[in-house]
Amino acid sequence: MKHSVEVLISEQDVQQRVSEMAKEIELKYKDTECLVMIGLLRGSCILLADLSRKVNLPVQLDFMTASSYGNKMESSREVKIKKDLDDEIRGKDVVIVEDIIDTGFTLNKIREMLLMRDPASLTICTLLDKPVRRQVEVPVDWVGFSIPDEFVVGYGIDYAQKYRNLPFIGKVVPE
Ligand code: PRP
Ligand code: MN
Ligand code: MG
Repeated sequence: MKHSVEVLISEQDVQQRVSEMAKEIELKYKDTECLVMIGLLRGSCILLADLSRKVNLPVQLDFMTASSYGNKMESSREVKIKKDLDDEIRGKDVVIVEDIIDTGFTLNKIREMLLMRDPASLTICTLLDKPVRRQVEVPVDWVGFSIPDEFVVGYGIDYAQKYRNLPFIGKVVPE
């Protein structure tokens, strides 16, 4: 599809909001021995890198890759683990970091799987939320921006694997 990309949320606004969320996370976990920040690959890599560097606490990073099968429109959409965490999270304070929550299937499934491993606590931080798209409820602790149902890219989010490296959130516009 021939298209262009327009700025939806500027680099400055993204960075400002990431800093705010980092300060809130820092406050909530001020007494933690160690906070495990889990990024869901690939979309969360940019947010995780920026967010974790603004959280002034002992932090560990770990990663998971979820693969989704089937049509996103189906409520039976299945989410499987393609790459699991490297370390155990039992007894640890854990925050899952995501770029965007759309239908909610990815985060809902990952959250349920991680809860079964008995972390001390589990929270979720996402840069973007598209509430009108939600098909399954997920408790999200930090949302950077709630956005309408636009086709967005940048700051980790791809369109056919492109644009993840844009420093801002862009909107794909067909030409
Ligand atoms: C995208 C996005 C979220 C998920 C949100 O990932 O990064 O992880 O979809 O959709 P949902 O709420 O409907 O489950 P994608 O599967 O495109 O993989 P990617 O992170 O590698 O781009
Ligand atoms: Mn993703
Ligand atoms: Mg993607």
